[in-house]
Amino acid sequence: MTDSWDTIADWYAELLRAGSALNDFNRDVLLDHLPDALSDHHVLDLGCGEGLIARAVAARGASVVGIDPSLRLIEHARSAGTAGPGTVTYTVDDGCVLGTVADDSVHWVTAGLSLNHVPDLDAALAAVRRVLKARGSLAFSIPHPCFEAPDATWTPVTEGAVRRVIGHYLAEGFWRSDNPQAVRRAGNQHRTLSTYLTALLRHGFLLEAVTEPAPSVQVAAQQPHRSGLPPFLVIRARRA
Ligand SMILES: C[S@@+](CC[C@H](N)C(=O)[O-])C[C@H]1O[C@@H](n2cnc3c(N)ncnc32)[C@H](O)[C@@H]1O
Repeated sequence: MTDSWDTIADWYAELLRAGSALNDFNRDVLLDHLPDALSDHHVLDLGCGEGLIARAVAARGASVVGIDPSLRLIEHARSAGTAGPGTVTYTVDDGCVLGTVADDSVHWVTAGLSLNHVPDLDAALAAVRRVLKARGSLAFSIPHPCFEAPDATWTPVTEGAVRRVIGHYLAEGFWRSDNPQAVRRAGNQHRTLSTYLTALLRHGFLLEAVTEPAPSVQVAAQQPHRSGLPPFLVIRARRA
């Protein structure tokens, strides 16, 4: 069977709810780019999955809409609910279209580890720009494209030590991992760093922050091979 986000949805929801240090870390470094208090703010969470980031944004008081093309993940998100004080609703939608989201309607768009899944980055950025209010911002994270390129491996170098060996950094496009335990068995759209940055500029975004956070203590404990490399690239960009 060829996996998709719908076929791995139950596995992914279980992975996060059991406690994935890497996904929790991604949520935290992304939310570092948003204000602590978000009451009166409308936020779109693009590619919300089972709602990990949408719930955390609502905990800051925002009214959040989470969209995702996977109905099964949206069902998981709905069943998790939210503790407030903000609100969250979830809708099936495609981040390249955002057909359920009105023009000029949100102060923030968050996209945690999801723009690396949209097949058309230009369409997604055009849709994000359309739904953002004037001076609204997009905050997104992606697996660091320089280290998470197609066919990258963790290769033993000495007893107990491994190094990241980069595969095909310049090979942009769709690829999928053949590791049955990897998230990217459902596929991934690899793009270079310059492709992301130039697309943001082309769509009229101003770069406000670019971060490459070192793994947290929790990530290093769960995945020691990751020490010394930033697992994610995080960018905040404002609608000019
Ligand atoms: C790694 S998961 C991240 C989910 C969530 N943001 C999180 O941090 O747990 C990637 C998500 O991107 C979603 N996705 C795939 N294609 C998409 C598209 N065209 N538009 C929006 N989201 C998409 C998947 O369904 C999945 O929920």
